[in-house]
Amino acid sequence: MRKMNVAIVGATGAVGTQMIKLLENSSLPLGTVKFLASKRSAGKQLSFKGETKTIEELVPDSFDGINLALFSAGGGISAKFAPEAVKRGAVVVDNTSHFRMDPDVPLVVPEVNAAALRNHQGIIANPNCSTIQMMVALEPIRKAYGLTRVIVSTYQAVSGAGNQAMEELKQQTRDFLAEKPVNEWKADILPCGGDEKHYPLAFNALPQIDVFSDEGYTNEEWKMINETKKIMEDDTIKVSATCVRIPVMSGHSESVYIETEKAVTVAEIQALIADAPGAVLEDDPSQQIYPQALNSVGKKGTFVGRIRKDPDEEKGIHLWVVSDNLLKGAAWNSLQIAETMYEMNLFE
Ligand code: A2P
Repeated sequence: MRKMNVAIVGATGAVGTQMIKLLENSSLPLGTVKFLASKRSAGKQLSFKGETKTIEELVPDSFDGINLALFSAGGGISAKFAPEAVKRGAVVVDNTSHFRMDPDVPLVVPEVNAAALRNHQGIIANPNCSTIQMMVALEPIRKAYGLTRVIVSTYQAVSGAGNQAMEELKQQTRDFLAEKPVNEWKADILPCGGDEKHYPLAFNALPQIDVFSDEGYTNEEWKMINETKKIMEDDTIKVSATCVRIPVMSGHSESVYIETEKAVTVAEIQALIADAPGAVLEDDPSQQIYPQALNSVGKKGTFVGRIRKDPDEEKGIHLWVVSDNLLKGAAWNSLQIAETMYEMNLFE
């Protein structure tokens, strides 16, 4: 069995840390494993499979001898270093948005479009966290009943914005509990590091994730719109999104409204979800059973509940979709792509 030499880029980050944990239990036969981050972290140590490993500074030559590189260190780093990794013979699975809409780069949720991996040219993009979990829930419905429209509102956790954003929320929470006035709380990162103004997230809800772009939508919202069409290979599906950051540490929740092509009952959708790969049905209002962000943390599945018909629209259905954004939304989907490629014999 061929050994895989793996590099994790952004190994100290919120997603990179989860990638390391998942790699410890991966089905991939591991050879060399490298953990890469910025100069700031070079020399720090961590434990991997009982051994002490040292974080190395990311440089182009880091990829010599590597066959799989998992990137999660920001779009700029991927833009610069993913082509370097490919040049040196590695397959890159990139968790940033940098290559996602490139027509030569497959954008993959393994439960939905693993076949697209066969067309890769060295880089595979991991979709946006909110898009991934929505795809796991909607693909079985699309396949069986057709999908004409999706309107989604997200309730996204702060870990999606990285370690520093999590620390900022924790400090604001401490300030609130210490009864410090809101105008004295520190807010330097959220809603979005790249924008001019910053607002507190603690005990708040911020309807901005990423910067604003065309037609009053944020980039995060455009990602959900465009990536859905690319993954489902259907430009005719009408998609609209409102993305909101809430003070939850991990676990993205989504209120998803869909319209199907053919009429469908709630029981039929429940049966589809119960059988769908990667999806877990949690839907029993009589017992107050529904997906919750807190319960999703540390799990690989996408949890689906509150399935109900729109009272006025025959083909309209509402769902509540929850998943751990750091796992299925990022680290697990990336590693699952790599494991799927290994099973499909796509590593040369
Ligand atoms: P470092 O910890 O050395 O800054 P998060 O998404 O949680 O903010 O994490 C971002 C990840 O990207 C971290 O592992 C961070 O490493 C890494 N990173 C940031 N800038 C660079 C860089 N210039 N070169 C390599 N890794 C970087």
